[in-house]
Amino acid sequence: MLWGILVPVVGWIALAAVIWVGHGVILTWTHNFFYGRVHSRWLADFFQLLHGLLLVLPPFLWACLGPSFYQGEWDTPWGRVAIAHGIICLFALPVLLLVTWRRWARVNPPGVRLENRERLDPDECPQARLGGAGLRNWLAHLKFNETLHPEIVEYSLELPNLPPAWDGLRLMHLSDLHFHGTPEREWYQWVLEQGMRREPDLVVCTGDLVDGTHFHQWIGGTLGRLKWREHALVVLGNHDSWYGPDSLRKDLKRLGFKDLGNRWQVIQVRGEPMVVGGIESPWFAGEPNLEDAPAEIFRLLLSHTPDHLAWAAKHQVDLMFAGHVHGGQVCLPAFGPLVMPSRHGRSLDRGWFQQGKTRLYVSKGLGGTHPVRWNCPPEVMLLTLRTGGKKP
Ligand SMILES: [Fe+2]
Repeated sequence: MLWGILVPVVGWIALAAVIWVGHGVILTWTHNFFYGRVHSRWLADFFQLLHGLLLVLPPFLWACLGPSFYQGEWDTPWGRVAIAHGIICLFALPVLLLVTWRRWARVNPPGVRLENRERLDPDECPQARLGGAGLRNWLAHLKFNETLHPEIVEYSLELPNLPPAWDGLRLMHLSDLHFHGTPEREWYQWVLEQGMRREPDLVVCTGDLVDGTHFHQWIGGTLGRLKWREHALVVLGNHDSWYGPDSLRKDLKRLGFKDLGNRWQVIQVRGEPMVVGGIESPWFAGEPNLEDAPAEIFRLLLSHTPDHLAWAAKHQVDLMFAGHVHGGQVCLPAFGPLVMPSRHGRSLDRGWFQQGKTRLYVSKGLGGTHPVRWNCPPEVMLLTLRTGGKKP
């Protein structure tokens, strides 16, 4: 008797759990898709709240069905909704597994080599208040949290047809610093100092510098300390677009950064020309008109979001840097990240990608509005160019 009741109950609970996972997967897709496009801060916050509410909705729906549904009377209006919802959610699971498998099967593009990965110890930072004064600073001190434990990642990239003068040229890539109080300004100074020890020739920064106009005043004391041999290049991100982007651009220009927001120019690097461009859409209107750029010159593109990879490949970009997605910040073992603000979901989450001849590096970034990271430490990336390699 008891067994006869227990088996169906356990069966329904197991089925509900699987359907709920599929429900979460679909919501994650719609969240990622929308958040990768949205312009307004208000709309982004509203959409996140809506997704949070939708995530907890299924148990209420199932509770409303009543005992008759679980005894086989499915042909009611709510019953039909529950069946349709369940079938759609179950279909999402194989797609999730396929995307996860593709993520695991991914390999670096030819010519890319990991040279060194150094995890920094925040105890070496002399500033005591590492968690800073940000709104959610207590999160930074959670035991599992990697927010205060950055790494310096060093790659080399062998490319065909590089000017011989660029052999050994070193670029330092910064992204998504998100100044908002946590971590403290001294933490950023310390991390950037570690990157500077590698003596970059170019500094490239792919946006989301500030989370509040008040934090413009951090720019001089952090990025203002950087040194480079050739150039420093920057584009802004979606968070910058919400907090005084015009004055931020002025601050950066004062420090010597070239603002590449939706434009391109030719610069001289070790006496050789390089086309450098930046793309900040959809948060700032326009895109660089690379059709007018000299075709035979190496093209470097900075983009806040990695979603412009196809655009870059179409415009014969050689090397592209992006950020925005923060590597997902929280990455489950074997599965990877959950929430990714990209039209491509988890497909362009972190590291190296290639489309056409374009090599793209997506940074995990240094900060985040929510200072929580797991299996996804903040990073400064250094890339050394090497001449050679085969044409793609
Ligand atoms: Fe960001």
